[in-house]
Amino acid sequence: MKALFINGSPRKNGNTAQLLKKAMEGAKEAGAEVEFINLYDRSLNYKGCMSCFACKVKGGRKGICSFKDDLQPILEKAMEADVLMCGSPVYTAYPTANLRAFMERLIFPAVNYSDFRHPLVNKPKVSATIYTMNCPNKMMYRANDYHITMDVNASQLGMFGPTELMLSYDTYQFNDYSRYDAAQIDAGHKAEVHEKRFPKDLEQAYALGCRLCERAKEMIG
Ligand SMILES: Cc1cc2nc3c(=O)[nH]c(=O)nc-3n(C[C@H](O)[C@H](O)[C@H](O)COP(=O)(O)O)c2cc1C
Repeated sequence: MKALFINGSPRKNGNTAQLLKKAMEGAKEAGAEVEFINLYDRSLNYKGCMSCFACKVKGGRKGICSFKDDLQPILEKAMEADVLMCGSPVYTAYPTANLRAFMERLIFPAVNYSDFRHPLVNKPKVSATIYTMNCPNKMMYRANDYHITMDVNASQLGMFGPTELMLSYDTYQFNDYSRYDAAQIDAGHKAEVHEKRFPKDLEQAYALGCRLCERAKEMIG
């Protein structure tokens, strides 16, 4: 069983990466062969969908983007995975640009223009998305309409099989708040959340990693 973890944050050890890595530990514990990819790695040069429509050409390879760049091998891995987990910080109310570009290239080839009800899924998979945000709680999340943008974005992975969404609020943005112009942010509160609640989010991520793999095992049979 293969589990692929996609970090859509430029920070390789930020909130999103830490949660994804915990989920990866859980997946490993559940017996998966795991791999972690940082989409903002400087060696990765790619764009979103180039609208070449090669994925819709008659007789062409279906269900996968064949545009040749550094993302193509990662898309092959995503296609082969039994478990796919994506993570992203919320950036100006949306997932990051690099995660969106990845998702365009992953999802559009599976959209079946000949039968919208039956996506072109080469290998069904269990998936999840983790979003992290400065936003303090679920009420604010809804007030900002993130429940529309984020939930819609995450649910798109549902075309490949069962999918879950995990949210981590009120994250720690800087190691030292005193260095930044951020008078509206209560550094003491942030430190407390980081110390007391974030570890619980890490536990939740670990459990999510295990759960997805258990579910994938049932699917594989
Ligand atoms: C460019 C940028 C835009 C952001 N926009 C939002 C936002 O709209 N809403 C929010 O709640 N947090 C926002 N944040 C905060 C991040 O989502 C939050 O700190 C996140 O946990 C960072 O994840 P990371 O540590 O994995 O990079 C933004 C941060 C940056 C750098």
